[in-house]
Amino acid sequence: MTLTTEQENAILDRIIGERRSCRKFIDRVPADEQIESIIHAGLHAPFAAAAIGDNENYFRRFVVVRKSSKAMKELAPLVFDGVEKMAGDLERAAANNAELREQAVGFMNRLAAIKSMGMVPGVGTAPFYIVAAEKKGFPPVEQLSLAHCMENMWLKATALGLGFQIVSVTAQMADNPRFCRFLGIEHGKWALMGCATGYPAEKLSPSIRPSVREVTTWPG
Ligand SMILES: Cc1cc2nc3c(=O)[nH]c(=O)nc-3n(C[C@H](O)[C@H](O)[C@H](O)COP(=O)(O)O)c2cc1C
Repeated sequence: MTLTTEQENAILDRIIGERRSCRKFIDRVPADEQIESIIHAGLHAPFAAAAIGDNENYFRRFVVVRKSSKAMKELAPLVFDGVEKMAGDLERAAANNAELREQAVGFMNRLAAIKSMGMVPGVGTAPFYIVAAEKKGFPPVEQLSLAHCMENMWLKATALGLGFQIVSVTAQMADNPRFCRFLGIEHGKWALMGCATGYPAEKLSPSIRPSVREVTTWPG
């Protein structure tokens, strides 16, 4: 069946509107093929060609960790310890720096909440935790590339009827040599971002945003 441009756009608009942050998943495990198709979408996201330069090895990698795997048992405490260290480092740095304290208060609260939960949401709370790695280049735009990659993956997961959660503390784990060794990447050379996916526990409303007119100017 061939769809008209209008029909294709209606589908795209629906998927964009239905893309939400899912923070509760059921135990049902998506098929590996579904995860591969999400990764396929991530691979097709743009990358910063000029920043990466000529590269013998492909500059984008994915590591898929299943919820009840041996790998997850090893990795989850590693990420939690990472968060604890991050929280401690930031608290110490902010203690004598009012500007930093003011800037970082939201993130510090988030780290404190994770600490008191005793686990990192998205790491072992969904059937899959996926880490995407992007080789560092110049200028250092790898986190931007990873954001494009995540958005493509997020939209694909939405189209598959799966929930998706960004696990942004994964980015800080790039500084952790054990975590990098675990992923099989060279420490210091890669930037990271993570996400969790699985079937959502609840249906969320489409995203609510201001109207285009409220936030857009068209200077003459
Ligand atoms: C850079 C970035 C980091 C984020 N980190 C997290 C995260 O670690 N955990 C989480 O649950 N959501 C995270 N989010 C999701 C946002 O909180 C979410 O997109 C926002 O609240 C809007 O809600 P929506 O995604 O349902 O439209 C992140 C989003 C972005 C863009």
